[in-house]
Amino acid sequence: MAEPSATGPERPGRAPEREPAREGGEDAVIATRGLTKRYRGGQLAVDGLDLTVPAGSVFGFLGPNGSGKTTTIRMLMGLIEPTSGSARVLGLPMPRASRTVLPRVGALIEGPALYGFLSGRDNLLRYDAADPTADPRTRRERVAAALDRVGLAAAGGKKAKAYSLGMKQRLGLAAALLQPRRLLVLDEPTNGLDPQGMREIRTLVRELASDGTTVFLSSHLLDEIEQVCTHAAVMAQGRLITQGAVADLAAGARGRLVVTTPDAGDAARVLKEQGAADVVVDEDRVTAEPPERDLAEVNAALVAARVRVRGFTLERASLEDAFVALTGEGFDVAG
Ligand SMILES: Nc1ncnc2c1ncn2[C@@H]1O[C@H](COP(=O)(O)OP(=O)(O)OP(=O)(O)O)[C@@H](O)[C@H]1O
Ligand SMILES: [Mg+2]
Repeated sequence: MAEPSATGPERPGRAPEREPAREGGEDAVIATRGLTKRYRGGQLAVDGLDLTVPAGSVFGFLGPNGSGKTTTIRMLMGLIEPTSGSARVLGLPMPRASRTVLPRVGALIEGPALYGFLSGRDNLLRYDAADPTADPRTRRERVAAALDRVGLAAAGGKKAKAYSLGMKQRLGLAAALLQPRRLLVLDEPTNGLDPQGMREIRTLVRELASDGTTVFLSSHLLDEIEQVCTHAAVMAQGRLITQGAVADLAAGARGRLVVTTPDAGDAARVLKEQGAADVVVDEDRVTAEPPERDLAEVNAALVAARVRVRGFTLERASLEDAFVALTGEGFDVAG
């Protein structure tokens, strides 16, 4: 959306110009069709995935452990071959167009490879030197800026083997930020980070997005996705459950009705009579799945039954509610 025009000058720190029209949606930065991966052992890790990531989005790729997120990302980045189906990244087929696509994509994939005997800074210098599209004249500057951006400026001189998990993760992220990118693909970027670190990464992701970079990030943390993403796809057991704008996904699930009252027992009875399901009493709080009927009538019925109502609200549904509603199960690892 905020990308510079194809004819305009490239400003430093901005995402480079966009591609001409592409297949799989006008503005799709990632588009897969029937993407499938069966590992040699027989495990069907990704099953017929149709994914569309709009340009300019912060796209959350959500799913419990083992649902196929990293496998999908590896296919998108041309690191493994799909068993069937196709993937286009920046409009070009992967893995065939890896050489053209990969320099325009910053990626952080599970367990970034580091040279333990080198400092964080030297790791980045070396990584950048291996990139034929990177300008050696600006290398030191760009490395310093990337270290600063991920909060490693002070620890840049320390050997990578002495880094904590969170510091390694930050260094991996810095590597993805050495050049302005059209697309960032981040596999569990907050893995191993403390709450403060997670907040910093969220802020960074928002900044990058406002520069016009599309950010595709995976996570098994629902609220993290809810806080930072404009769009999301939900995976379970290798299959796509749903995808779309985060606000629409959460709206797909009805929120819970919450009644606060000193007459909780009576309130629970009336709510059941009114057709509410899953009525739960917790001291003076009664929550329930709201019935199909007009909630004004439900409230009136409570009052008519002399239930003293202190509060009557519909709590907004979270992505987790949506997930549970869609899969009929909790957000747990499949066996
Ligand atoms: N190299 C492999 N060989 C065989 N099976 C694999 C391999 N890598 C992953 N799998 C299996 O594929 C499925 C999906 O794994 P994947 O790593 O893609 O999940 P994920 O969503 O990234 O999980 P997590 O949240 O734990 O990172 C799992 O059942 C896993 O055991
Ligand atoms: Mg993974």
